[in-house]
Amino acid sequence: MPFDVARIRQAHPALAEGYAHFDGAAGTLVAEPVARAVAGVLGGAVSNRTTAFAPGRRALAIVDAARAAAGDLLGADPAGVVFGQSATALVYTVARGLAGTWAPGDNVVVTRLDHDANVRPWVQLASAMGVEVRWAAFDPATGALPVAAFEPLVDARTRVVAVTAASNAIGTVPDVPAIAALAHGFGAVVHVDGVHATAHLPVDVAALGADYYVTSAYKWSGPHLAACVAAPAQWERTAMLKLLPSSDAVPERFELGTPSFELLAGFTAAVDFLATLDDAGTPDDTGTLNDAGTLDGAGVLDGAASRPRRERVLRSMAAVHSYETRLFERLLDGLRSMPAVRVLPAPAGGCPTVSFRVAGEDPATTAARLGDQGICVFSGDYYAAEYFTAMGLRETGGAVRAGIYHYTTADEVDRLLAAL
Ligand SMILES: Cc1ncc(COP(=O)(O)O)c(C=O)c1O
Repeated sequence: MPFDVARIRQAHPALAEGYAHFDGAAGTLVAEPVARAVAGVLGGAVSNRTTAFAPGRRALAIVDAARAAAGDLLGADPAGVVFGQSATALVYTVARGLAGTWAPGDNVVVTRLDHDANVRPWVQLASAMGVEVRWAAFDPATGALPVAAFEPLVDARTRVVAVTAASNAIGTVPDVPAIAALAHGFGAVVHVDGVHATAHLPVDVAALGADYYVTSAYKWSGPHLAACVAAPAQWERTAMLKLLPSSDAVPERFELGTPSFELLAGFTAAVDFLATLDDAGTPDDTGTLNDAGTLDGAGVLDGAASRPRRERVLRSMAAVHSYETRLFERLLDGLRSMPAVRVLPAPAGGCPTVSFRVAGEDPATTAARLGDQGICVFSGDYYAAEYFTAMGLRETGGAVRAGIYHYTTADEVDRLLAAL
């Protein structure tokens, strides 16, 4: 599969500043067509949603286009796509929407590998409803979160199993389909945090067995906007407080107030951009906002546009996965060759994200030292609070995190290793 990283980098003009971005797990740079789509809405005639006049119809179309884009990215029904300010906000929406039916004697299952966004909302709602919280533990020696960790926890009173599709700390990809099958066998709902995984892997929510799957576009070259997808019938069973005049229909009832049309247009442009990653050629940069709520031609490459976008997304993300995996091996080999570097264990085959510590150095100092050399890495717990507590590292500064993204180059990996 062709993977032209030079072309991809050209589509991110901000890379010209020269920073080496290993901070994608905290947020990526946006692709240029995304910035253009956002600016196109802000600079164009886009009113609030109405069928009465064209600028209002444009707003309606922007929303529909973004739902279709999320559907193509994740293999989901566009009618079950709910947008929100962030993944965190959406998990709270879903947790509140489900918790009303919980009763003492029920339980929810969360993991110690997850980002706190897929932990705390469930823990807090469980506490409010008098429901037990059960913790699935990862193996600290390997970083794996096996299905066996869930087997003793899930039973007929389990209402929700909340699990990540990939760890934002160490990249572990749990066997979500098997975990979901176990949960479904007992009638539990499966809530999957796809925020880290979506940037690195082809996603098919049906294959995962996710009843809800949440993703945040700023982790994959898009704007600061998140989406949670579920079957429309699942949303129908999800409660939501809303205003009297606003729609009670799915998915609109979960989107309080007026949506950000500019970010929705950016979301669509980001999915369109991801769909081009494995194709040769240069992105068409003639895009202008049209009445379908998308950019004409933006990000679509000659000869590729005839294939359905879903198919192009899957091919592109498969190419991303193999490109990133190769670079990640280079990074891991380099880190492991340094006696002073302790790499936190993670199973092979995960997402290309590693946490490590340098002997005798506080992780924040390592990050600042690299930052001074134009290398962007994060340090701390990156909100994987339970993971770092279980590893006994939270009190001492967590770790340093470096992640490969599809615009990372081998030269940048070597720069990071040399700077360390
Ligand atoms: C795995 C994971 N889940 C959830 C979140 C929270 O996403 P958001 O910032 O959209 O709330 C993050 C953000 O870092 C994450 O990495």
